[in-house]
Amino acid sequence: MTLPIMVKDLSFRYQGSKKEILTGINITVNQGEILAIVGLSGSGKSTLCYCISGIIPHIYQGELSGEVLLKGSSTRSLSLPRIATQLGIVFQNPETQLFFPIVEDEIAFGPENLCLAREEIGQRLAQVLELTGMERQRYSNPQLLSGGQKQLIALSSVLSLQPDILVFDEVMAQLDPAGKELIKNMILNLKEQGKTVIMIDHDCDNLVIADKVKILKQGRLLDFDGTFS
Ligand SMILES: Nc1ncnc2c1ncn2[C@@H]1O[C@H](COP(=O)(O)OP(=O)(O)OP(=O)(O)O)[C@@H](O)[C@H]1O
Ligand SMILES: [Mg+2]
Repeated sequence: MTLPIMVKDLSFRYQGSKKEILTGINITVNQGEILAIVGLSGSGKSTLCYCISGIIPHIYQGELSGEVLLKGSSTRSLSLPRIATQLGIVFQNPETQLFFPIVEDEIAFGPENLCLAREEIGQRLAQVLELTGMERQRYSNPQLLSGGQKQLIALSSVLSLQPDILVFDEVMAQLDPAGKELIKNMILNLKEQGKTVIMIDHDCDNLVIADKVKILKQGRLLDFDGTFS
């Protein structure tokens, strides 16, 4: 079976920068697994998320070697819109991910860009709102919701493209305990549905939901016992 995510000997340096940010990274994640990656600020966690989600090399340029395979296809050969139907990424700050004054417009935007039929868009909207428990917020202004709810709307818009893989880059960092609980339960729910998850986090309370935890240290990925993986 083709693995959802396979990172092979990945190294990266941003354009114009002398420092290699990622060095010889290897990762395999099985379907339905939650891999957590921890690391100090500046250790390259977001950069790794950009590589896994194709933002590098499609948006940020630099010196990239090795490869990221999503279901066997290299992110180099996949376009970003194509990747978005396989992999969804949610970032730390929900404010940067929400653009529309009404929740349903926010969520419908992706499927509309795929030029799906109106009926299909309506079905997907209803489906993701039910999944994230945000049905009552369908006509709300995202800006007026709590931090946890905003993240659930950002997640809903990503899920409306029906990706099998989800990447969460410190999505709980700015949330209160109730918001964290909402998102953690949501991630477990996604796992139950067979989705594959990579989450960046360092709060032990959040890491308990992970199947495996790796450490990113000075650009290298280590197992929890300190050995290179
Ligand atoms: N666009 C860029 N161009 C050049 N260097 C960058 C760029 N983005 C990040 N860096 C550098 O890459 C290194 C890793 O940054 P990155 O944001 O990946 O770390 P991080 O582990 O996500 O940190 P944090 O925990 O603060 O989010 C840092 O030294 C940062 O300054
Ligand atoms: Mg980061």
